[in-house]
Amino acid sequence: MTARMLPGKPVAERILSDVRSRIDALRSTGFAPSLATVLVGDDDASAGYIRIKQRQAADLGIDSPHVHLPQNVAQDELLEVIRGYNADPKVNGVLIQYPIPGHLSYDAALSEMDPDMDVDGMHPMNMGRLAVGLPGPLPCTPAGIEELLAFHEIPVSGREVVVLGRGATLGRPLAMLLAQKRPTANAAVTVVHTGVPDWQRYTRRADILIAAAGVPGIIQPEHVKPGATVIGGGVRYSGKRLLPDVDESCAEVAGAITPRVGGVGPTTVAMLFRNVVTAAEKASGTAGRTRSQAKASTH
Ligand SMILES: NC(=O)c1ccc[n+]([C@@H]2O[C@H](COP(=O)([O-])OP(=O)(O)OC[C@H]3O[C@@H](n4cnc5c(N)ncnc54)[C@H](OP(=O)(O)O)[C@@H]3O)[C@@H](O)[C@H]2O)c1
Repeated sequence: MTARMLPGKPVAERILSDVRSRIDALRSTGFAPSLATVLVGDDDASAGYIRIKQRQAADLGIDSPHVHLPQNVAQDELLEVIRGYNADPKVNGVLIQYPIPGHLSYDAALSEMDPDMDVDGMHPMNMGRLAVGLPGPLPCTPAGIEELLAFHEIPVSGREVVVLGRGATLGRPLAMLLAQKRPTANAAVTVVHTGVPDWQRYTRRADILIAAAGVPGIIQPEHVKPGATVIGGGVRYSGKRLLPDVDESCAEVAGAITPRVGGVGPTTVAMLFRNVVTAAEKASGTAGRTRSQAKASTH
């Protein structure tokens, strides 16, 4: 058996086409959506990711003010930049490129951000909103995986999904998302990790297996139920070489599988811009008032 491929590009194109028309609608009212980015240090890969996001922003008609801080910047200076963006009425979304240098706390920087401007959907407030089912920016990779499954018409509702990994970026929010009551979710979700030494027992019975470990080649054909859907979310880089969790030979057992390159990545970027346009729409509804006045009126 050779699995059907589940590319992310057509999914991303559909999401971005919707984003583009929403941006055009905002611009036609005189409102300029913007995504502010923060890069700390001189990591080439991170600088490259920021450039890709800035190019995509420009293509969609989104302004992208940028701050590049030195490698040895103090935590307070980073927080000051975030506070500046929080207070800037021209900024709707803020992205801190991860990872940041080891002497800095990413969690503290994220927590400083206005949760409504957190376009990565990783702020503790937004994780809380996800947990209790309130609207808010969703974490991009998990939300992109739900979109990818829906686009390729892989039934999720009522089926058994096994997620390998409970990390804060991927496994944990994805499990919450796919267990929610909604036609594109509504699954029986099991999460396995290093605390479950016989995790293979669970992955082998999954209708949909999602790798979110960041351990190259951890998923092998013998861990996959014949005909199952396999989604590769976890990756590691060795220099510029991408090392996915899912071994390519799994395509011989799976019924459907994401490609080695161009699966979950494009949908993640598309969901980021969906979060940006949603934040911009929210901000445009409060245009002319200060952010705190707008917030006060929602309580
Ligand atoms: N494609 C994308 O756009 C995208 C976006 C975001 C993240 N990612 C990737 O997704 C992966 C997960 O990200 P994260 O931040 O959630 O990672 P994380 O916090 O490092 O979590 C990794 C999880 O995998 C589990 N795990 C690791 N080795 C294992 C093993 N040998 N057996 C069983 N479980 C194991 C860990 O278990 P314990 O909890 O027990 O330690 C942990 O729950 C990373 O590779 C990241 O690069 C990709």
